[in-house]
Amino acid sequence: MEKFLDTITAEMKRAFAACGYEEELAKVTLSNRPDLCEYQCNGAMAAAKKYKKKPIDIANEVVKELQGSGLFSEASAVMPGFINLKIAEAFLSYYMNGMKNSEKLGLEEVRDKRTVIVDYGGANVAKPLHVGHLRAAVIGEAIKRMGRFVGHRVIGDVHLGDWGLQMGLIIEELKDREPALPYFREGYAGAYPPEAPFTIAELEEIYPAASAKAKTDDAFKERAQEATFKLQNGYAPYRALWEHIMRVSLADLKKNYANLQVEFDLWKGESDAQPYIPDMVQSLIDKGLAYESQGALVVDIAEDTDSKELPPCIIRKSDGASLYATSDLATIVEREKDFKPDHYIYVVDKRQELHFTQVFRVAKKAGITAADRRMDFVGFGTMNGKDGKPFKTREGGVMRLESLIAEISEAAYGRIMENRTVSEEEAKETAKLVGLAALKYGDLSNQATKDYVFDIERFISFEGNTGPYILYTIARINSILKKYSESFGEAAVTEIQAPVSEPEKTLMLSLARFSEVMHTSFEELAPHKICAYIYELSNALNHFYHETKILAQEDEGKRNGYIGLITLTRECLLTCIDLLGFEAPERM
Ligand code: ARG
Repeated sequence: MEKFLDTITAEMKRAFAACGYEEELAKVTLSNRPDLCEYQCNGAMAAAKKYKKKPIDIANEVVKELQGSGLFSEASAVMPGFINLKIAEAFLSYYMNGMKNSEKLGLEEVRDKRTVIVDYGGANVAKPLHVGHLRAAVIGEAIKRMGRFVGHRVIGDVHLGDWGLQMGLIIEELKDREPALPYFREGYAGAYPPEAPFTIAELEEIYPAASAKAKTDDAFKERAQEATFKLQNGYAPYRALWEHIMRVSLADLKKNYANLQVEFDLWKGESDAQPYIPDMVQSLIDKGLAYESQGALVVDIAEDTDSKELPPCIIRKSDGASLYATSDLATIVEREKDFKPDHYIYVVDKRQELHFTQVFRVAKKAGITAADRRMDFVGFGTMNGKDGKPFKTREGGVMRLESLIAEISEAAYGRIMENRTVSEEEAKETAKLVGLAALKYGDLSNQATKDYVFDIERFISFEGNTGPYILYTIARINSILKKYSESFGEAAVTEIQAPVSEPEKTLMLSLARFSEVMHTSFEELAPHKICAYIYELSNALNHFYHETKILAQEDEGKRNGYIGLITLTRECLLTCIDLLGFEAPERM
């Protein structure tokens, strides 16, 4: 189906053209005075300048042309030259039934289907997940699902940090603890054990211990750097250990992401990009882009239009080691080879903005990707505690994802048990869904770049702009539908009828915007717009519910029409929360 706004705009264009004005002027927007009208067009103002006439005269002409249009129940010209619009009730219900009977609620997929890489998650192997990784996972997953829904081919890649100093630290710490292991035995020529010499719990303890030691013990730190260097240059015993670290840590990471309902298509990491580095660096040199500066190899990225001076991108340190940027550039080489993406999206902490500016510019300058390739950096802000500082556990430690999820589910459980309408067992299951919704909606409802405060009490509230409120609205619809079928059986026809009340019309106007919101949210990479939309939709549904006798409606056609309308609302809400990455329980 054509987007609702496009249909209205086309009608307005027709009217402008019929009056002899350029149709480009006929831009329609949602009303910013909902008390007066539903949509508005300010095109007469712009036309006045162009055609040297009074805006109100133009508005009057266009309005006259719109009389008899099936789309508007009212079109009026208002000083100094606004055109105020109200949608015809019959057209609105016609559009509702179209949505109800179409795939994807009438959403038309994009015509330019792009291959999109979403780089998100970014967990570091063997290091604890921190809040930044939570945000990356939640926002990236939503963006991936949104892109797919509007019709793109979207590939999600976790892009693990699996090639850094943490590996050398773990190796050296292990060596200090268990020097007899074959990995550390000089001249050992046998096979390495298939079993890892540590469990995930041990690994989680080894890394922080090693990291702390390196801060006070310079010799240890040097050994760790050396071990990292050896690993990166293919030293077999360390490579074998690295594989153990990867296996043990990955299993745990996968479990964590699965609990968050975050799924990746690719489990690649920085290590996968390493083979591409030598050729890539050589080509930067051959193209004359990379040059030596104080022993390091760098590429200038500054442009005349920059408002502040941007430092060059360092490709290789003076000791020969490659860096974060090198690895991200090589990853682009790899992705070009594997997928030829039309669009790259990186969902990473906003403090890494300079890094990505450098990487994107070098990639384009060097022709690693096309100069006009769309490359977006979705930089997100920090999730803070109530004290305004980056969120920590109650003990002041680094957040563990598992405990965070457990904490919020427990709070949701308490809240559900207050009502005591369901069994303990069902409440537990429900609490998991509600907790996840609270966590994700609490995050996604903010513009990504903004910092926000992680406030469990507010997030799990069933009222206000929260995930549980959305789920509660869905549960309310479920309950009406259940009662309906108990009393009346399955309705054969649920044709939505023209709205007769203000709340009913408001609900329909909200539903009509679905396709528009889905497309805009993805184009702007803005999941918060979907949150704002379903909050508005839920408010509209609840207002309609309070003002309307649905089951007690005697007229069968009307009653069934209401059922059709709330069923459509339910579909719409369920689709949106799925895009945001959470699910609704049957009841709450
Ligand atoms: N591992 C990185 C970190 O923890 C995030 C990776 C983001 N993605 C990328 N392509 N650099 O900061």
